[in-house]
Amino acid sequence: MPLRRSHLNAALAFATLCAFIFPTSIHATVPIHRGTPSRSAPATKVTNNRAIYTLSPTFVITDVPVTRTFDWTLSLATGAPDGVEREMMVINGQFPGPLIEANQGDTIIVNVRNGMTTGAGIHWHGIAQKGTDWADGVPGVSQCPIPAGSTFTYKLTVANQFGTFWWHSHMGNTMADGLLGPLIIHSPNDPNVRGRDYESERIIILGDWMHDMSDVIIADLLTVDGYRNSTGAPVPDALLINGVGVYNCSSVTNTSCTTQPLPEIDVVPNSSYRIRIINTMHYKFSIDSHPLKITAADDTAISGPKALHQLPIGIGQRYDAIIKTTVGTHGSAYYVRAAMCAASIANVPSNYDITALAVLRYVATGSKATTTLPSSTDWSDSVNNDTTCYDLDTTGTSVFGFITNSALESIAHFFWNSVTWTNYIYKPMLFTLKNGGSLNSSIITHAIFPSTGAADIIINNHDGGIDHPYHLHGNAFYLVSRGSGLLTATEYAARNTSSFNTTNPLRRDTLVISRSSYAIIRIITDNPGVWPLHCHIGWHLGVGKMATIVVQPAAIRNLSVPAAATALCDASNIPAGDTVNTTAPGRKRRSTGADLTAYVLRGLNNAIEHRRAIKLLD
Ligand code: C2O
Repeated sequence: MPLRRSHLNAALAFATLCAFIFPTSIHATVPIHRGTPSRSAPATKVTNNRAIYTLSPTFVITDVPVTRTFDWTLSLATGAPDGVEREMMVINGQFPGPLIEANQGDTIIVNVRNGMTTGAGIHWHGIAQKGTDWADGVPGVSQCPIPAGSTFTYKLTVANQFGTFWWHSHMGNTMADGLLGPLIIHSPNDPNVRGRDYESERIIILGDWMHDMSDVIIADLLTVDGYRNSTGAPVPDALLINGVGVYNCSSVTNTSCTTQPLPEIDVVPNSSYRIRIINTMHYKFSIDSHPLKITAADDTAISGPKALHQLPIGIGQRYDAIIKTTVGTHGSAYYVRAAMCAASIANVPSNYDITALAVLRYVATGSKATTTLPSSTDWSDSVNNDTTCYDLDTTGTSVFGFITNSALESIAHFFWNSVTWTNYIYKPMLFTLKNGGSLNSSIITHAIFPSTGAADIIINNHDGGIDHPYHLHGNAFYLVSRGSGLLTATEYAARNTSSFNTTNPLRRDTLVISRSSYAIIRIITDNPGVWPLHCHIGWHLGVGKMATIVVQPAAIRNLSVPAAATALCDASNIPAGDTVNTTAPGRKRRSTGADLTAYVLRGLNNAIEHRRAIKLLD
């Protein structure tokens, strides 16, 4: 079990990436890219395409690979997800955006035409991009922005993955302007089988919504006064289920506002549904009277004997759950509830309604849907006003069919962090590394993993006030340990690695780490590339809460990158007003910058917390 001391110095204790407890300073030595979209209300109206929430029962799940091509146009349009009209960024006029559905092994081609007035990049959250870092979609990391008026083609091969994913814009926090949607990969290898374990599939997308464009909010967050007098992530104007929120129009004077009906999810009685929940806000999710049998966390199939009343789900995470529609009959209706975990947002007013609702409505085949609202009540054991955002406890579930890889036992790595990210959007790190250069540690916290093996990354959430969701690109990770408090290098080194959970660790790509607590995540460093590791609170990401891991720099030099991807960085593709040194907005320094304790990896006490929000059934 060699601990590579030589890496201790090179690596970074990766702390406080998301912490949000520091005063503002604006880094103004380089031009700030404001990304100002047109403020005149675009004529095109956004549609909510309800077809994306029901997966087709006739989609053929097979291991015979095909190429599936999607043509997308990004545009500015006027929409009102919560009833309040505003300018939005959308794909093919839809919010949420189009569904991508494919099989494991397929090649997915997405032709993205940028009809907006600012640059763009689309990320495929959870897709490993093995050998194809160039298609990861992060301007400044893996590509230059797709210029306004241009088309760029992403090509994804999903060789070894299946499950519930999503895609979203990765330019600033423009995913908050409407650029997100579902990405579902089927597989004959999926242990949950349509027709046996469930009859039909539904997608539920949970999110939050603001009435201002994201660039306005980020520009304000980077000022001393912040946005709406706070430098923290803003309290959402509305909470959305499947792109619909309900806003009280009586307070709206300057734009059109319509009170929306609750979103409806129709189900047939006496059937079963696999619900794929995709989440972009911290929530506790439940359906009145319908226990949730959880079958996947992110894209990892899990099994457990128990069903949940209420599922905690962090930003960026996904869960698959099976429900049985044997509770009611035609005409029955039940509330679907997503209660925001207020502990992920500072300053939530006490009178804020944290619960977004939808209606699960039983509609017999051939019958007309009823319209009365449910009279159902919430689970009596649900926890809606928790002061901490918990991650799903792993004690009630186990990874389905996971075989421990002996490589998991090998190497240690650790991180520290003093830097927030300055995004030189026209100098992507991938190309710097590919050309034999190295990353500047004063603009991006990064750790280098030179060869294939197993590595641990310790994430300390130094933030004593906010719980943060951490997401790693390129590599799902194994959660081998977590606990309260912060883990120092010395403590890590002193621990016996046998205290790690390596026999059946949960594997996922996004993890909630509660305030003042830590997690040790283990990756296999077999995917050459430069991979963001960031807080998935978009407002935190948007102001620079990101680090990267660099896997196998020597192999990065040999990655093949299509000419069109390289050409995105041509001088002719840099818009007027920007230069090659333009940065995207975002850079907040910690006032102390002093949490540079080294964190080694090794073990932990076995205390597993984070179980409070889960209510288990027998
Ligand atoms: Cu959901 Cu960096 O991504």
